[in-house]
Amino acid sequence: MLLLNFTWKTIWSLEEKSEPKSKFVHLNKKRRNMEEKKVYKCEDDILCGVNRPKDLQNMTDFEKKHVPVITAPDKVKRDQEFEVTVEVGKLFPHPKEPGHFISWLELYSGDTFLARAYFQPVSSSPSVTFKVKLSHSHGILKAWAMCNLHGLWQSEKPIEIE
Ligand SMILES: [Fe+2]
Repeated sequence: MLLLNFTWKTIWSLEEKSEPKSKFVHLNKKRRNMEEKKVYKCEDDILCGVNRPKDLQNMTDFEKKHVPVITAPDKVKRDQEFEVTVEVGKLFPHPKEPGHFISWLELYSGDTFLARAYFQPVSSSPSVTFKVKLSHSHGILKAWAMCNLHGLWQSEKPIEIE
């Protein structure tokens, strides 16, 4: 008899544990199912992919604040060193605070990496001049700027190698 009581108690206890405790469990499960079915796109998330101004001729202040500006000659000689300046904040100032700052700038020739510079949030400005030389053309210089809150931003500048 004692064994039977123990068995019934054990079964009842297991059943109680396997059933939901309240309506919230059902609601949470329903919400989780809805979120799993939602389709996310890169355009919905500023931290996904590379951000570019939507209209270069009519940029918003937010876009001006983040897009890196490339200053370089339009034409350079093959294998001859030249300067490329990349800066964020030239078009519209970007914050330089511990919670919001440009952490690095990168320079590419097409998709070929050339250089990277890191910045401290308060005491340095996101501006750097790189000295580079190119043996052949990839058509464009490309700069990437990383904002710790607003992700990766890109700009391009055509360059000719003669
Ligand atoms: Fe930002």
